[in-house]
Amino acid sequence: PKTEFVSELLSKMTLEEKIGQLNLPTSGDITTGAANSSNVAKNIEEGKVGGLFNIKSVQKIKEVQKIAVEKSRLKIPLLFGMDVIHGYETTFPIPLGLSCTWDMKLIERSAQIAAQEASADGINWTFSPMVDISRDPRWGRVSEGSGEDPFLGSQIAKAMVHGYQQDDLSKNNTILSCVKHFALYGAPEAGRDYNTVDMSRIKMYNDYFPPYKAAVDAGVGSVMASFNEIDGIPATGNKWLMTDVLRKQWGFKGFVVTDFTGIPEMIEHGMGDLQTVSALALNAGVEMDMVGEGFLSTLKRSLDEKKVSIEQIDNAVRLILNAKYDLGLFQDPYKYCDEKRAKTEIFTNSNRAEARKIAAQSLVLLKNQNQLLPLKKSGTVAVIGPLADAKENMAGTWSVATNMQTSISLVAGINEVVGNSTKVLYAKGSNLDYDAAFEEKATMFGKTLHRDSRTKEELLAEALKIANQSDVIIAALGESAEMSGESSSRTNLEIPQAQKDLLQELLKTGKPVVLVLFTGRPLVLVQENATVPAILNTWFAGSEAGSAIADVLFGNENPSGKLTATFPRSVGQVPIYYNQKNTGRPLGNKEGKFEKFRSNYIDERNEPLFPFGFGLSYTTFDYSNLKISSDKMNFNEKVNVTVDVTNTGNYDGKEVVQLYIRDLVGSVTRPIKELKGFQKIAVKKGEKQTVTFEISVEELKFYNSDLQFIAEPGAFQIFVGTNSNAEKKVSLELIK
Ligand code: IFM
Repeated sequence: PKTEFVSELLSKMTLEEKIGQLNLPTSGDITTGAANSSNVAKNIEEGKVGGLFNIKSVQKIKEVQKIAVEKSRLKIPLLFGMDVIHGYETTFPIPLGLSCTWDMKLIERSAQIAAQEASADGINWTFSPMVDISRDPRWGRVSEGSGEDPFLGSQIAKAMVHGYQQDDLSKNNTILSCVKHFALYGAPEAGRDYNTVDMSRIKMYNDYFPPYKAAVDAGVGSVMASFNEIDGIPATGNKWLMTDVLRKQWGFKGFVVTDFTGIPEMIEHGMGDLQTVSALALNAGVEMDMVGEGFLSTLKRSLDEKKVSIEQIDNAVRLILNAKYDLGLFQDPYKYCDEKRAKTEIFTNSNRAEARKIAAQSLVLLKNQNQLLPLKKSGTVAVIGPLADAKENMAGTWSVATNMQTSISLVAGINEVVGNSTKVLYAKGSNLDYDAAFEEKATMFGKTLHRDSRTKEELLAEALKIANQSDVIIAALGESAEMSGESSSRTNLEIPQAQKDLLQELLKTGKPVVLVLFTGRPLVLVQENATVPAILNTWFAGSEAGSAIADVLFGNENPSGKLTATFPRSVGQVPIYYNQKNTGRPLGNKEGKFEKFRSNYIDERNEPLFPFGFGLSYTTFDYSNLKISSDKMNFNEKVNVTVDVTNTGNYDGKEVVQLYIRDLVGSVTRPIKELKGFQKIAVKKGEKQTVTFEISVEELKFYNSDLQFIAEPGAFQIFVGTNSNAEKKVSLELIK
C-alpha cells in the first residue's frame, strides 16, 4: 500500500508542490544559525515546505501541522525535526560521555527515552546519532560523537538508531533517526570546524566510514550530509559519496538531508552559483535542503534547462513521502501531538532516575592516589570552582530542549547525597576565564556563565577561607558547556589558566584535593595529573549531573567509565589515537626515551597521558589465564578467547574487558592494535568471572587497497586487558 499510496499522491502533485516537499526551513524558535523564517507559514500553506525543525512544544507544532493539513492543497503533513542529541528535557551525558559507559543497553535506553519525550512533545525526527570519528580534540564537536574508534563507534551507532526507531516507526513513541554528518566531518585539517578534509579512501573505509555504515545497516531513516569537502567536492554535492557509497554500496533506502545551509555554502566552497550547486546536490543524491532554499528557488529552472530530470525530483519526493508514511503521519498527522502525553511523559521522575544512573556510568576516574575517593560522608567539604554551582552548564552542548534551570548542579547534588552527615561549603574561586565571544554564544543558548565582577584576588580569598575550614576540597573546574560543540575549536587544550591557578592555590593549603573535571573534549592534564591526588572526569553529564557526580564521589556508585578518546600530553601530539600504524621506524624503547632517526619527538613522549579504554574503579581487577581454544583457524572456523577477571579490591565493581587484534602482516600496513570486542561485566568483590570472546574471520577483515573487505591468511596477535595498553596476548594463525 505504501508504494501505491505514495505514487498516487505524487501523481496529483504540481512541480511546485514536489519541490516544496524537498524544502526544510527552520522555525527560528530555537536558532542554530542565521535563517530567514518569516515566510514559513505562508510557504506551508502554498505547499512549499516538507518539514520544519527546531520548533518546541506540542501546542506550537499542532498549530503548524494544522496549516499543512487544513490549508495546503494536498494536505500533506509535515515532518518536525529537532536536534535531540543526548536526551530531550531529561538530558543524558554528552555523547562523548555516554560512549564512555561502553554499555550498549544503556545507550540504547537513553535514545529510547529521548524518543519517548520528544515524540510526546510533537517531534517525529531527530538529527542524531552523530557518529563522526575524531582523533582531534581541538575540534569542538568531539563532544558530540563517540570518540576515536570505528568498532565501538559502530556499536553505538546501531544502539542509538534502535533506541530512536525501535525497528517500528509506526509507534507513537518512536521517531525517525538521522545519522550525521556524512561523511568524515570529524577530520577537519587543524581541528578547525568546517575546515577541509583530505583523506585516503583506504582510511575512510577502514577507520571513518564504519559507524555511518552501521547506522545504515541498522535501518536509519535519514542521513545528513556534512559541511566538509571530500576529494575536493563538498559532501553535499558529492555523487560518489551519496550515490555510489551510500546507495549502491550500502543499500541505503531512506532520504538524505543537507546540513544547515549546506547547499548555498557550496557557493563559498567555489562550486558555482545557487542554481548550479542546487542541481549538483540533487544530482549527487541529496533529497532535502535544510534552510538553504536552493531547491525551492532554482530547481524548476534547472529542470527547464535539463540540468536535472523530473525522475530525480520525483524520486526525492517519493523518499520523503515514504518517511512520512512510515511515521504514520498520513493516517494521523497529529499522531505526535498528544497534549496529555506532553504533560505526563516528559522529564518524569523515572526518566530522571534513569538519567542519573546512566550519568554515573559515564564518569571516568583518571586518578585516585591512596584511595582518596570515595569520600566519607562526614566532616566538612569545600566545593570550589566556577563549575561547582553552574546548573546552566551541566547539560553540555546541543541540549536545545533542556530546561537549564532544573538541571542539578554539583553543589546541589552533593547536598542531596550527603544530607546532614556532612557540612558542605561553597565558593566560586575564580571565573571560568573565557573570552567575550564565548560569553555571547553561551548566553544565546541560555547557558549564562555569570561572570563574577569580583577580582581574582577577592574570589581566591573567599575560596581559601572555606578551603582552610574543610577536611577535603572538591575543585569543580574545566570547560564551560559552550567551550566545546559546534564552532568551538581550540588550539589550547588546557583547563583555562585562571582555573589552573586556582587549583594550584588550593593544593598549597595541604588539604586533599579532588579535581572534578568538566569538559567536552580530551584535555591536556599533565600538570593536574602531576599535582592532584584524585581526578574524576565528568564530561557534561546532563540534567542530573550533580546528583550522579555526588553518587560517585561519595561511593553510592563505583565508577566504571572508560575513555573512548585518547587524552594527549600535549596539543602537539594531535591527531592522537591508539590504533596507529607501526611505521618503518618505530621507537625501540618502552620508556619513551628519545631515539634519533626514529619516529618520535625531541620534546615529548609518543604515548598519551591517558590511553583509549582507560578508566579506574574504586576496586581493582586482575586479569589471568588468557587462553585461546586453538592457535589455528580456517576461514569457516571460530575460536574462543577466554580470560579470568578477578575483583581483587574492596568494592563490587564493573569492568570493561577489552579485546584488541593485531594483524602482523598484510597486503597493506595494519594498525598496531584494533579493538574487536568488549564486554562490560559486574564482578562482586573477591569474585572471579571468566569472559569469553568468539573470534571469526569477520574480526580479522579489513579493506584492502582495492577497497575489498577481506581477511588475509597469516599471523595475528590477540590482546585482552583493561585498556588499549593491554599486553597479555595469545597468537592465532588464519589458514586457507
Ligand atoms: O543537526 C545540526 C547539525 O549537527 C549542525 N548544523 C545544524 C543542524 C540542525 O540544527
